[in-house]
Amino acid sequence: MTEGHAEPRRIVLGVGGGIAAYKACEVLRGLTEAGHQVRVVPTESALNFVGAATFEALSGLPVRHDVFDNVPEVPHVRLGQGADLVLVAPATADLLARVAHGRADDLLTATLLTARCPVLFAPAMHTEMWEHPAVVDNVGLLRSRGAVVLEPASGRLTGTDTGPGRLPDPAEILELTELLLVRPDALPYDLAGRRVVVSAGGTREPLDPVRWLGNRSSGRQGYALARVAAQRGAQVTLIAAHTADLGDPAGVEVVRVGTARQLRDAVLTAAAVADVVVMAAAVADFRPAQARSSKIKKTGDEPAPVALTTNPDVLAELAAQRPDGQLVVGFAAETGDSRSGVLEHARAKLARKGCDLLVVNAVGEGLAFEVADNGGWLLAADGSETVLPEGPKALLAAQLWDAVAQRLSRS
Ligand code: CTP
Repeated sequence: MTEGHAEPRRIVLGVGGGIAAYKACEVLRGLTEAGHQVRVVPTESALNFVGAATFEALSGLPVRHDVFDNVPEVPHVRLGQGADLVLVAPATADLLARVAHGRADDLLTATLLTARCPVLFAPAMHTEMWEHPAVVDNVGLLRSRGAVVLEPASGRLTGTDTGPGRLPDPAEILELTELLLVRPDALPYDLAGRRVVVSAGGTREPLDPVRWLGNRSSGRQGYALARVAAQRGAQVTLIAAHTADLGDPAGVEVVRVGTARQLRDAVLTAAAVADVVVMAAAVADFRPAQARSSKIKKTGDEPAPVALTTNPDVLAELAAQRPDGQLVVGFAAETGDSRSGVLEHARAKLARKGCDLLVVNAVGEGLAFEVADNGGWLLAADGSETVLPEGPKALLAAQLWDAVAQRLSRS
C-alpha cells in the first residue's frame, strides 16, 4: 500500500519487454491494494518475461496486447479514453522510442495515443542504453510534451554490471503514481540543473556503545522531498540520519550520518555548492555531555544522572553563512494548542533561524511523525503564508518545490 489513499481510479499499467517486467507484478499488487481498477496492457515481448495469467490473476481483468483482440469493443481507443492515469513500468528503450514517435503498432502504444490523462513512464534498461543520445532525445521529447519520465535508480542491472538504469523501487513508483492522481501537474521537469540538499530522519546521540538519545522522526518527509526533487530534474544529495526502512530514492546521492554533529558536517559540505538546502531532519538539540566508551552500569537504586550539552543549530548556521542566491528552508514541528499558537511560534522561529522558507507542521498524537500524511503552512521571510493542505508527504514535497522553483526563477 502506498502513502496515498486517494479514491479508487482507473489505471492502465503498460508493461514493456525487459527483465524488470517481473517488478510490474509488485506495482500492480500495490495499485490494486490501494483500491484502484487496473487494466494491464503488456507489449508482446513483455509476455516473454511474465505470463498474461499472472497479470490477469493479480488485476482480476483480462489482459490483451494486440489491437485486433476483442475488436468490437475498440479497446485501442476505449482504454486510453477511460483511464485516469497510464503508468508504464518498465518502459524499455524501444517502447520509449515507439511512443516518442507516435507509433500505434500494438495495444499499449495505441492506448498512449488516445490517453488524455497523466502518463508516467518508469524506464529500466542498461546504462549504455539510458545514456545513448537516441534515448536521451526520446525522453526529452516525451517530457516536453508533458509526460513524466522518471529518473531510473542506480545499482545492479541484469548481469553483474551496475549504473543508472534500474527500475525505481515499486514503492517509489506507487508513491509518485498516487501523487499524480491527486495532482497531475506535480512533477514538472523544472529543477533541471539545480543542486539540492535535503536532510532527513532523526539524529542519534550516543550515551554509551549500546544506548542513544533519539526521536520519532521516520525520515519519510525528507525522503519524499528528495524523491520529488530528483524527479523534477534536480541533482539531489540526501543527508540521511536514522530513518524507518525506506528504499534509497532513485537518482539521489545518499550520505548516511548518525549524530547531529555528523549531520552538520555533511550538510555544510554539500551545501557549499547547492542552490537550495532543506532541513527536514529532526536534529537533536542536546546530546549527552559525555558519550561513555563502555556500557553504563546499574550501580545502585538511583539511576546515574545524564548531563546534556547543546548541539549546533545547523539551520541557523546554514542561513547565516549561505552563498548569494542560495535558498535555505527549515521545518518546524510545533505543538501549539491553537492555529494562532502554532503560527506565532513558527513566525518567531523563521526570524530566529534566518531561513527563507519554513514548513510548519502541527505535531502531537498521530500527527506528522511516523505517519503517511502531512499538512500545515508554508511561511516565507517575505511575510507570505500559504496553507499546505493535509495529504501525502509527496504532495507537501511538490508544494514546497513549487515555491522554491518560483523563487529560484526570480533570482
Ligand atoms: N534544526 C537544526 N539544528 C538543530 C535543531 C533543529 O538545524 N540543532 C533545524 C531542523 O532541521 C528544522 C528546524 O531547525 O528545520 C526547526 O527544528 P525544531 O526542532 O522545530 O526547532 P528548534 O530549533 O529545536 O526549536 P524548539 O525545539 O525550541 O522549538
